[in-house]
Amino acid sequence: FTVDWDITAAEKQGYPHFMLKEIHEQPQAIADTLLARTDPDGRIVLDELRFDGADLRSADKVYVVACGTSYHAGLVAKHAIEHWAGIGVEVEIASEFRYRDPILTPHTIVVAISQSGETTDTIAAAAHARDQRARVVAISNVVGSTLTREADAVLYTRAGPEIAVASTKAFTTQIAALGVLALFLAQERRKLFPEECRDQLARLEQLPELMEQVLEADGHLAELAERIARADYVMFIGRHNGVPIALEGALKLKEISYLHAEGFPAGEMKHGPIALIDSGGPVIAIATRGHVHSKVVSNIQEVKARGAEVTAIATEGDTAVKEHADHVVYVPEVHELLYPILTVLPLQAIAYHAAVLLGRDVDQPRNLAKTVTVE
Ligand code: AGP
Repeated sequence: FTVDWDITAAEKQGYPHFMLKEIHEQPQAIADTLLARTDPDGRIVLDELRFDGADLRSADKVYVVACGTSYHAGLVAKHAIEHWAGIGVEVEIASEFRYRDPILTPHTIVVAISQSGETTDTIAAAAHARDQRARVVAISNVVGSTLTREADAVLYTRAGPEIAVASTKAFTTQIAALGVLALFLAQERRKLFPEECRDQLARLEQLPELMEQVLEADGHLAELAERIARADYVMFIGRHNGVPIALEGALKLKEISYLHAEGFPAGEMKHGPIALIDSGGPVIAIATRGHVHSKVVSNIQEVKARGAEVTAIATEGDTAVKEHADHVVYVPEVHELLYPILTVLPLQAIAYHAAVLLGRDVDQPRNLAKTVTVE
């Protein structure tokens, strides 16, 4: 009696691709990333901190450096760090940061984000920051990776191994970990009371259950992906922390389906990109509730008026958005700063289904490597 089996198929645990498996692992990965983030006194702690946390009080600037999807996680985190910790944040592509002259001092915090911890440009940007005596905080998924060894403090995501080249669970766990970092900075800088930090942490901890709800609505997304797969060009728009999700949705789609896709801040449309809108051209708009909601709805009306076919990612119960969009994908209501972890899920699924329909190599797209260890 013999059994034929293939180790890769076994590792996929019944899923046809690693990417789909990893999309569905996200709720657990977020729960793991948020586990045991406080000490017995209820104070938020980092995994490793090799300098006095009190120094963070005198910090006057945060730079976030990263590449690709990790850069998009940094753009999401900017909003949380500025809002909760009250400190200015600039987010930069690591390969650009290392070749200019950023003003770095011992009062600068540089947050370097890398799933692998081995991306050459991100490691070099962090090294440049350390040379200038800035404090480097690494966010990584790999314990003991080069980036974490060279940082002054580390916060690990606990996503488990990510095999698909297209990053999914690494992205959402980075956002969760950066949320913890934002609350840690708020705590150390005394911008939030300890109970406020705990309340916000509890909100983060509710996300895995809500993510499960979003992932269950997959059938509808496969239908939407059929329309997307037929398009020549797909545009993603958003505002505030919907901008990085628009950028990430476009990156995901282009890297695995090879469709031409771009993300834009919706308010920039009339300064150029709206010229690309053609009759029936698909536009995906991040239109969840929050202080910019009415602005996004106006932007949806603008592209609709030029013939776009709009899919809105909106908050459950928002029936008004239905009047303007052709299709609506709902996500549960959460604190405004937490929407990115939910709104990216349908975009990952749409990219996945479009790539499958087009017969692409989903897990190993052409011309790409999982970790970029060269410049
Ligand atoms: C995204 O799907 C890509 N795999 C890519 O953009 C990736 O996020 C980037 O290369 C950064 O990798 P890192 O997080 O390991 O540094």
